[in-house]
Amino acid sequence: MAQLSVEQFLNEQKQAVEAALSRYMERLEGPAKLKKAMAYSLEAGGKRIRPLLLLSTVRALGKDPAVGLPVACAIEMIHTYSLIHDDLPSMDNDDLRRGKPTNHKVFGEAMAILAGDGLLTYAFQLIAEIDDERIPLSVRLRLIERLAKAAGPEGMVAGQAADMEGEGKTLTLSELEYIHRHKTGKMLQYSVHAGALIGGADARQTRELDEFAAHLGLAFQIRDDILDIEGAEEKIGKRVGSDQSNNKATYPALLSLAGAKEKLAFHIEAAQRHLQHAGVDGAALAYICELVAARDH
Ligand code: IPE
Ligand code: IPE
Ligand code: MG
Ligand code: MG
Ligand code: MG
Repeated sequence: MAQLSVEQFLNEQKQAVEAALSRYMERLEGPAKLKKAMAYSLEAGGKRIRPLLLLSTVRALGKDPAVGLPVACAIEMIHTYSLIHDDLPSMDNDDLRRGKPTNHKVFGEAMAILAGDGLLTYAFQLIAEIDDERIPLSVRLRLIERLAKAAGPEGMVAGQAADMEGEGKTLTLSELEYIHRHKTGKMLQYSVHAGALIGGADARQTRELDEFAAHLGLAFQIRDDILDIEGAEEKIGKRVGSDQSNNKATYPALLSLAGAKEKLAFHIEAAQRHLQHAGVDGAALAYICELVAARDH
C-alpha cells in the first residue's frame, strides 16, 4: 500500500468502527441514563488505535477487515471502560478525557462505575453473538478467552493494580516495565493477536506479530508518560501533569525525559523489525507504529 492509500485505509476503517459502535449502542436495551453514560465516553472520540491495529492485522493477512469489526468494537468498549474507571477519584482522579469532562464529572461516580461495567460486559456479549461463518466457533472461543486474559487480572487489571500500588514509590525498571506491559501493553497486544486469529496467521507470523505488538504496547505507554509532561492539553484531551500530581511511577520519572525517549525509540525499532520478520503486507501496521513514536495526542 502506498502512503496515501494507507492513510485512506485507516480513515475508512476508523469511520467503519465509529459507525459500528453507534449501531451497537443504538440496539442496546437498558436504562436511558446508563446508555447515555456509556455512549458519552464511547463516542467522545479517541484515536481508535486498538480497533485499527486489529483491522490492519486482518488486512495484512489478506482478509477482509470487515470480518474483524465486532471484535474491534469490543476492544474499544473495554478500553473505554478502563479509561472511565482510571479517571475515577479513587484512581487517577482526572476531570478531563478525550477533550471532555470525565464520565463521573457528568454522570456521578455510581453511574460512571456502572457505565464501565456495562461496556466491559457488553463487549463479551458482542463477541459471543458473532454470527459469521468466516469466524468459526473455535476461533470465537479463543478470541473470548484471550480477551479475558488481556483485560482481566492477568492483564490490564493487573497492571492497573500494580500502577496504584506503585504510587509514591521508586520502582526498579523491571517493576515499571511490568506495569506498562500489563496496564496498556496487553490490550494492544490482544488487538494484534485477535487480528492474527481472525486473519488465519500461521505460527511464525503469529509469533512475530505478538512480538511486534508487545514492543508497540510498551512504546505506546512510554509515549503516554512523555505526553503527560510535554504534551498540550488541547491536543491530548486530558490534563498535563496528572502523573506527577499522583506521584506515579513513570518512565520519565525513573529514567529522565531523555532516557524515556531512548527507550521509546528502542521499542519502536524492535517493533518494526518483528513486523518485517512476520512477512505480511504490513504497511498500515508500520504506519501505526510510526504514529505511536511521534504522536502528539
Ligand atoms: C489512553 O489510551 C490510555 C492508555 C492506555 C495510555 P489512548 O491514548 O489510546 O486514548 P484514546 O482512546 O485515544 O482516548
Ligand atoms: C492507564 O494509564 C492505562 C489504562 C488501562 C486506562 P494512564 O493512567 O497513564 O492513562 P491516561 O494517561 O490517564 O490516559
Ligand atoms: Mg492510570
Ligand atoms: Mg490515568
Ligand atoms: Mg497517562
